[in-house]
Amino acid sequence: MIMNDKANIKVGNENYEFELIIGSEDEVAIDISSLRTKTNIITIDPGFKNTGACKSAITFLDGEKGILRYRGYSIEELAEKANFLEVAYLLIFGDLPNQKKLDKFLYDIKENSIVDEDLKKILESFPKSAHPMGVLSSLTSALVSFNPSVLDIESKKEIYDAIVKLLAKLPIIVSWVYRKGKGLPLDYGDYSLGYVENITKMMFNRPNKEYIQNDTIVSTINKLLILHADHEQNCSTSTVRIVGSSHAGLFASISAGISALWGRLHGGANQAVIEMLEAIEKDGGDTKKFMAKAKDKTDPFRLMGFGHRVYKNFDPRAKIIKVAADEVLKELGISDPILEIAKGLEKEALADSYFVDRKLYPNVDFYSGIIYKALEIPNQMFTVMFALGRLPGWISQWKEMRENKEPISRPRQIYVGERHRAFLDLDLR
Ligand code: CMC
Repeated sequence: MIMNDKANIKVGNENYEFELIIGSEDEVAIDISSLRTKTNIITIDPGFKNTGACKSAITFLDGEKGILRYRGYSIEELAEKANFLEVAYLLIFGDLPNQKKLDKFLYDIKENSIVDEDLKKILESFPKSAHPMGVLSSLTSALVSFNPSVLDIESKKEIYDAIVKLLAKLPIIVSWVYRKGKGLPLDYGDYSLGYVENITKMMFNRPNKEYIQNDTIVSTINKLLILHADHEQNCSTSTVRIVGSSHAGLFASISAGISALWGRLHGGANQAVIEMLEAIEKDGGDTKKFMAKAKDKTDPFRLMGFGHRVYKNFDPRAKIIKVAADEVLKELGISDPILEIAKGLEKEALADSYFVDRKLYPNVDFYSGIIYKALEIPNQMFTVMFALGRLPGWISQWKEMRENKEPISRPRQIYVGERHRAFLDLDLR
């Protein structure tokens, strides 16, 4: 019961009062941080469906209204007007940079855009068939060995240095993972280019052909990176914050976040969506058959790219990506039948009571893979592209968590196993 800006919880005959925390968008939380001390009981909330893990000033998301804002700016406006590096700066430092700050940020990143040659030896030791997300997570973790420093969280300079190093080196590693998969020589990029322009060149540059920048590809990648840049306390971001809460360093925490992102229910969904659409196409294009499978509770199949823990309305990112997919395919002169299959599935799902009743709408991953495919990025690289976009979000959340001096994350449990029993010697079992 919520009364007079307080929440009252009754346990047995005792009544306990807890403070309410009200967010800047009027979201309300019951502060139960003293619950166990006062009552000796805990709460259980599998999947943290009702649990706020922190206060955060980075991203606002209203899943009922379909609103997403970074530091107060709407995702629609940022995707249309900003470049990814500005958005990274905004997320990490709290405000949009002026030209001077942006130039300095880019300069500092460029100055760190070298990865130790020895990292190539680690990359070489992976089989060509290795999933790029596993390789990316391993190499990000390995970066710590080449940049050893104990981060002093009180030192703004040390934090800044770690941030620009990571923003500089991750795109190089991403391009190496991509290029290794294609059997191409590894690239260090072009110092003269902007952040996204450089990422694009590092990926698509060929050793035997003059590189000519395609502005459609650059602006599409810029938009996709912005749309993925942060999404408050999702699975991978929570992982980054939890790992960092033990005072693990920035690189190690981000490496863990990359592993969390890999799963098919999270960032891995973009690869799963394309595989699903290709399977539907191969099967003759009968979307109704796959809709029935998705609704059949005895079938583990789910409509990938649909549903979201927080959005119970359109994912605003999906709306932007759908329009972008149409534009990019048109501009690149590509006609991909799986785009039509995706649109057909979306139309059917939005009119189907199973999806309507459960408020299942297309999410960010539903159309993004179609764009990556049009850019000739292999399926297994889709989630790597997501990780590249999410990097500034992870960094900003890690930084906020450390600056707020949050305690180590350590949930409790309700034990439901055996009670105490005596040890039986092997011959008596
Ligand atoms: N297809 C069919 N049924 C679904 C789907 C789906 N894609 N998503 C949810 N449901 C059903 C689910 O079976 C359940 O039904 P019932 O109430 O009858 O048991 C109900 O909807 C609620 O689902 P939930 O699994 O309890 O919801 P959740 O908040 O735990 O899971 C989700 C959210 C995103 C994991 C889930 O919707 C899903 O598995 N979607 C497909 C994977 C996907 O697209 N993931 C990307 C998410 S967005 C980007 C990101 O996070 O990286």
